[in-house]
Amino acid sequence: VCKVALVGFGTVGSALARLLYARRGEHPLSLSHVCNRGVDRKKVGWTASDVVWTDSIPQVLASDADIVLELMGDIDSAYELASGALRWGKSLVTANKQLIAHFGSELLQLARDHGQYLGFGACVAGGVPVLSGLQEGLAGDRLVQIGGILNGTCNYILTRIEQAGSPFSEALRKAQQAGFAEADPSFDLDGQDAAAKLAILARVGMKIAILPDRVIRRSIRDVTAIDFEYAHELGCSIRQISTATLRQGEVCLRVGPSLVSKGSPLAQVSGSQNLIVSTGEFGGETSFGGQGAGGEPTAVAVLSDLIQAANYRFHELPLLEYSAAKESLVSNRFESRYFVRFVVRDRPGIISSLADVFAHHGMNIDAIHQRPGLDKACLPFVITLETCCESQLSSAIEEIGKFDFLVSAPLAMPIVQ
Ligand SMILES: NC(=O)c1ccc[n+]([C@@H]2O[C@H](COP(=O)([O-])OP(=O)(O)OC[C@H]3O[C@@H](n4cnc5c(N)ncnc54)[C@H](OP(=O)(O)O)[C@@H]3O)[C@@H](O)[C@H]2O)c1
Repeated sequence: VCKVALVGFGTVGSALARLLYARRGEHPLSLSHVCNRGVDRKKVGWTASDVVWTDSIPQVLASDADIVLELMGDIDSAYELASGALRWGKSLVTANKQLIAHFGSELLQLARDHGQYLGFGACVAGGVPVLSGLQEGLAGDRLVQIGGILNGTCNYILTRIEQAGSPFSEALRKAQQAGFAEADPSFDLDGQDAAAKLAILARVGMKIAILPDRVIRRSIRDVTAIDFEYAHELGCSIRQISTATLRQGEVCLRVGPSLVSKGSPLAQVSGSQNLIVSTGEFGGETSFGGQGAGGEPTAVAVLSDLIQAANYRFHELPLLEYSAAKESLVSNRFESRYFVRFVVRDRPGIISSLADVFAHHGMNIDAIHQRPGLDKACLPFVITLETCCESQLSSAIEEIGKFDFLVSAPLAMPIVQ
């Protein structure tokens, strides 16, 4: 039996302890320690009576636990714990995407140096076994694109704006009340959370070494109900979409609000569900979907990793090939058709001014969409553009930002499917 020291008894940690207990006798694991700051307020009566409750990480490291399970979140203290555990000859399992996206290679090397297992399957898409699916199930293909919906908070907020027509601030408040968004939701809304997951997916699925800060990020904060109305007229919905695309040896990673066709499976994803679609050069598209967050689904992914870690101690298994990744040229040439929403004080000549700027930057207008009967003092309308490069579009939008007829900054979103 392998002894597990659990550090971080929060949503996932307590769900994992319950799952370990509910499935006792079905796995080769026993919970030896629960560590949390201020541990006394965390104690529960339903774990085995010999579990040691502690708030001392050094005590965990010096203990006879075989596997340390890091479920604290945060990056600095998690790194200290993770590297310490591997150096002390313990295997490590974590659900911390920021830790793995930033320090995955280093930790995997430490694990190899000390003959230990490093499991991080719960870092991306909670309960969906996408990392092992990419690593093992699709090892026979060469992946050229990985993309999808990786953040349940954004998905909840966008579906709320779509269904209730709520302003962004109200949809965010509802998400916070329903427990779908943190008190400080910036990491979710502005894309850092999805960028870390995308970097891990690109690494495991495409063998590309990339840090999350190289991912192009666009916030969902400026999406409004009127954007959904125009998107619906185009047969689309709006979702936070993350994509990693490999083209001619260069990789481009992007996270941001995007238009997806109403008929696409991505438009059907609701609440905290995640959906990831990989595209292989030989095998075509494969989808991975399910519960992307929540205590129980994530605890299942964590328990799967703990079972792997225990198996590793008995018979050496291959580690996820995190450190075999190659440095790759990072490109900001994200190409797509685009939807650009403007809000203007209406007057003659606006369209020709905008068309001149787009033409000057080498972009072709596909169509102009304007609903009748809207307030002319604050008029929202949309221009769709034929395929162009995001950096080209950003320069045009910067120039357009100087026009005095704008009521608010334009919002540009790629039309991805
Ligand atoms: N929740 C999900 O759906 C989900 C899904 C996938 C991955 N994850 C990842 O799983 C990890 C845990 O998430 P969670 O939702 O369970 O978080 P959580 O509910 O905030 O739990 C974290 C626990 O760790 C404790 N803690 C934090 N810093 C500590 C420190 N320095 N020393 C000792 N204890 C510390 C916290 O104590 P306090 O009570 O004092 O704050 C809390 O009990 C995170 O890396 C998260 O990204 C979560």
